[in-house]
Amino acid sequence: MVNDLQTKGFLDIPIDLSLDLFAEINKLKKEKNAIILAHYYQDADIQDIADYIGDSLGLSQQAAKTDADIIVFAGVHFMAETAKILSPNKKVLLPDLKAGCSLADSCPADKFAEFKKQYPDHLVISYINCTAELKVHTDIVCTSTNALQIVESLPKDQKIIFAPDKNLGAYIKKKTGRDMVLWDGACMVHEIFSLEKIIQLKNKHPKALLLAHPECEANLLDIADYIGSTTGILNYATKSPANEFIVATEAGIIHQMQLKNPGKTFIPAPPNNTCACNDCPHMKLNTLEKLYNCLKYEQPEIIMDEKLIKDARRPIEKMLELSAQFGL
Ligand code: 13P
Ligand code: SF4
Repeated sequence: MVNDLQTKGFLDIPIDLSLDLFAEINKLKKEKNAIILAHYYQDADIQDIADYIGDSLGLSQQAAKTDADIIVFAGVHFMAETAKILSPNKKVLLPDLKAGCSLADSCPADKFAEFKKQYPDHLVISYINCTAELKVHTDIVCTSTNALQIVESLPKDQKIIFAPDKNLGAYIKKKTGRDMVLWDGACMVHEIFSLEKIIQLKNKHPKALLLAHPECEANLLDIADYIGSTTGILNYATKSPANEFIVATEAGIIHQMQLKNPGKTFIPAPPNNTCACNDCPHMKLNTLEKLYNCLKYEQPEIIMDEKLIKDARRPIEKMLELSAQFGL
């Protein structure tokens, strides 16, 4: 079992094929007083069994306030780590420990610490999509839901380093006109969209609105009808009188968009390669089978050093405090 976790990142224990995994997971959840938190980019069946589905801000708010004994985090490593930081006395499980994040990987904490030395009078705002070690070097964490308001809440002359996403950083910098130094990181899923193919798609579907996540590149954001977090995109599509949407973010969100809006059409924005999907390979490492084994055997678990938890907690709490002030 330990060997599996080290080499594979998950428990590779065969599951009886006759089992109804939905029923079994629900049973285990009750027995163990566990909660399943899932990001919108998870597979549809994981979203369907989750107790809460949300964006990074919503998920961290839930992780901070839950009274469950066990949190099963159906998302990627930095999200489960954030849940552990906010609820250190709870057992936090991640179905596949190898569910990482290209954006978090693009900003190693030691390299960032060196970079930061060049800007001693700057405040560090880090997108939550980063490691706990990077959060230690951060003054305020943000998500795509609150980044704009957090930056705007600072004094106008406050110099800022924004890490690790250069696209979200450039978008906020343009919107606010603030003095911001950007770390050169990006998300592999949001950088792969083809502007040319999206323009062709818009011409084919002239009534379709383009909804984009701010992790997308500026040339795509420039032609978007709406820019926002996954929750923002979902809410916009639900409230909009339009019936057709091109969705420039990870394709998992379309499951909730379709459930909330059965009569509307959602077209995943095409990537610039031959792959027909916009799946995040990290998010999609989690499966219902891995989730079942994870809850049954309570492995893999997120284990963190106490000092790291304490140091990484401060900028996340600051974000939660500000978000509450903004009514988010
Ligand atoms: P949000 O759901 O907070 O918009 O984040 C998107 C994302 O890329 C998560 O990995
Ligand atoms: Fe990371 Fe991008 Fe995947 Fe989100 S979609 S987990 S930012 S690689």
